[in-house]
Amino acid sequence: MDPKELRRVMGHFATGVTIVTTKDETGTPFGLTANAFASLSLDPPLVLVCVDKAAQCYSCFASGGHFAVNVLAEHQEEVSRRFATKGVSKFDGIGWRASESGLALIDKAIGHIECKIVYSYDGGDHTIYVGEVLSAAAGEGRPLLFYQGKYHRLPE
Ligand SMILES: Cc1cc2nc3c(=O)[nH]c(=O)nc-3n(C[C@H](O)[C@H](O)[C@H](O)COP(=O)(O)O)c2cc1C
Repeated sequence: MDPKELRRVMGHFATGVTIVTTKDETGTPFGLTANAFASLSLDPPLVLVCVDKAAQCYSCFASGGHFAVNVLAEHQEEVSRRFATKGVSKFDGIGWRASESGLALIDKAIGHIECKIVYSYDGGDHTIYVGEVLSAAAGEGRPLLFYQGKYHRLPE
């Protein structure tokens, strides 16, 4: 198997873009850009997200117990870039609010899902977190897309 070819194949798989947030034991929010997100089950309602074990926020996922998924709108490329950058203050200057359970929900995202982690699986250099959906809310707008290493919008 040629890893470069695998990367090329994965580049052909177009996705949406999410910001997955969690919090540490003091309630401080953490988050990262993630497209390894999927709907898993409707009954019971489950989603999954894959988090890099090398992510600075990884320990918060490992201990936090809950996460939120923010589905980004087409105009939120800068938000995606910010949350994909290590060592920056990710939430500064970004509109967001804390949900009742203290998870960061990003303003103008076109979908918010809050989850309780019910399973986690080793996934090589990532961990697969399965979340039971506690709340879900869809907003208005069109999605930000990621394809072949670049951001895209749906054609008009
Ligand atoms: C479009 C896009 C999708 C990404 N998807 C994932 C993902 O699904 N899981 C992941 O762990 N990192 C993903 N990353 C990389 C992380 O967002 C990035 O490494 C982030 O800085 C990690 O969080 P940290 O700052 O806490 O280390 C993605 C980056 C981009 C630009």
